Amino acid sequence: MNAAVRAVARMAFARHWEAVGIEAGYRGLLEGQFQPLSNRMVGGILQRGGTVLGTARSTEFATPEGQERAARKLEKAGVEGLVVIGGEGSLTGALRLQERGVKVVGIPATIDNDVWGTDTAIGVDTALNTALEAIDRIKDTASSHQRAHVVEVMGRRCGYLALMSAIAGGAEAVLVPEFEPRREEIMRAFQKSWEQGKPHFIVVVAEGAPLSAEEFHEFVNEAGGGVESRITVLGHVQRGGSPTAFDRILASRMGTAAVKALSEGASGMMIGLQGRRMELLPLSEVVGRSHPLDPDIYEMAEVLAGFPEEVSYR
Ligand code: F6P
Repeated sequence: MNAAVRAVARMAFARHWEAVGIEAGYRGLLEGQFQPLSNRMVGGILQRGGTVLGTARSTEFATPEGQERAARKLEKAGVEGLVVIGGEGSLTGALRLQERGVKVVGIPATIDNDVWGTDTAIGVDTALNTALEAIDRIKDTASSHQRAHVVEVMGRRCGYLALMSAIAGGAEAVLVPEFEPRREEIMRAFQKSWEQGKPHFIVVVAEGAPLSAEEFHEFVNEAGGGVESRITVLGHVQRGGSPTAFDRILASRMGTAAVKALSEGASGMMIGLQGRRMELLPLSEVVGRSHPLDPDIYEMAEVLAGFPEEVSYR
């Protein structure tokens, strides 16, 4: 997100505009936490995780009165264009501001990759690589001890991070909220892999999956013929750290595209990456929808994990 803040500010300066950072998200907006930015102030932040502006969840902003007050605050401060960087909640807030007369463009930033209309969002690639590194490390210890390991990754209601980290990490099974887990198949795969002398069994579980990390762990402990299992919940580890090159470039492209869109008169739109291109989509189409998980990729993950039968999730 810092790369996006930097890109928005620098693109604005290139157009001889002033740029103001709003600290602590919508809460800071309601509290008038406006920080004028300079070229230097956004220097040296590109490689930093999190956001230098800070973020917050605001219950007041969730109400129509709060949204009205926020719109008037922006008007009073002389803000002529707003760039909102965030996930579903932030983009919904952006739409509500636009409905109240604010010129606004949204940029998708969430590790969950659940924002509709964009192939990916800022933060997804970094979180994915963090999860992958953890899975690789866990595999080392799992093989050494000959254990099953359940790794829970974030994603809210979306299994994208779990699915992609499982494929990239060569996991033996992956559980996501979007598809009903084939419990029997997983258990059979588990038993087969042990019979065949595989030294580990890694299951990646999305936090919102119908079969939880604890349930799988218990199954192994009860029916695993003496195989031990451990659970690792990656949690907020996935939300920090220096962003990958992909994320820095994505954020730089989205930040500059947002300012360009505002300067061309766009409002109530979101910047989305579609294929190689940055596209503008109405926020009203984005909000309330979710980026679907590709069933073909889920099927592929099962095949690569060595599931005995191929099934269709379409
Ligand atoms: O939406 C991003 C996310 O990290 C989800 O993956 C997770 O469910 C949630 O936020 C955690 O929220 P909090 O930081 O408020 O605990």
